[in-house]
Amino acid sequence: MHGDADRAREAAARAAVERIEDGMTIGLGSGRAVWRVVELLGRERAGDGLLRAAFASERTASLGRDAGVEPVELDGDTRLDLAIDGADEVDPYLALIKGGGAALLREKLVVSAADRFLVVAEAEKRVDRLGERFRLPVEVVRFAWRDTRRRLLDLLPSAELRTADGSPLVTDEGHHLLDCALPGEGDLTGLADAIKATVGVVEHGLFIGLADEALLGRPDGGVDVVRRGGA
Ligand code: 5RP
Repeated sequence: MHGDADRAREAAARAAVERIEDGMTIGLGSGRAVWRVVELLGRERAGDGLLRAAFASERTASLGRDAGVEPVELDGDTRLDLAIDGADEVDPYLALIKGGGAALLREKLVVSAADRFLVVAEAEKRVDRLGERFRLPVEVVRFAWRDTRRRLLDLLPSAELRTADGSPLVTDEGHHLLDCALPGEGDLTGLADAIKATVGVVEHGLFIGLADEALLGRPDGGVDVVRRGGA
């Protein structure tokens, strides 16, 4: 473990593992913080065989298998006791920007299947208003993506196609991502609804009203616990 961010993630991940009870069926998102949770599960709960999980990315699934977590499908009937996922920004009301790792669509599906959603991240990712430091990823269908981008520019100051190795990035579900600046003021819930209603948009990385609790790790090993509604 090297930098402040690694130590902060480690603290948050350890706190998250303590929230996971034997016998739970959980959802696991994607990103470095979640992967650390899975690694710790493998190390500390290996062989228990008591955990089942829906995974939001191939990397998480692979780590989960190594950790001895039994995979479950979201088949229309499965309810998850708890979803655990990272975030790119966290505001004081536990609204999030997600999608830095391009997995936001499956992540939102996993979170939506869970009774509770626990965020695990570095305290550094706290912001007063979403969009201060991170752009909002919006997942769009590939067909006519430039037209979708033009429509989004009526709502958002900028929208850039995400690339990987010089080519347009293609998500797990076969779409492109547009990374969009958020306006510095205005109603984010209304904006989220308008983005979602834009033709060509599949999903966006605003997770508003979904997280119940955030474990925000600090480099000194402490963890700030934030609950929705301040309870
Ligand atoms: C992936 C995500 C991740 O949860 C988010 O990008 C945070 O990742 P990390 O823990 O690596 O900083 O939304 O789509």
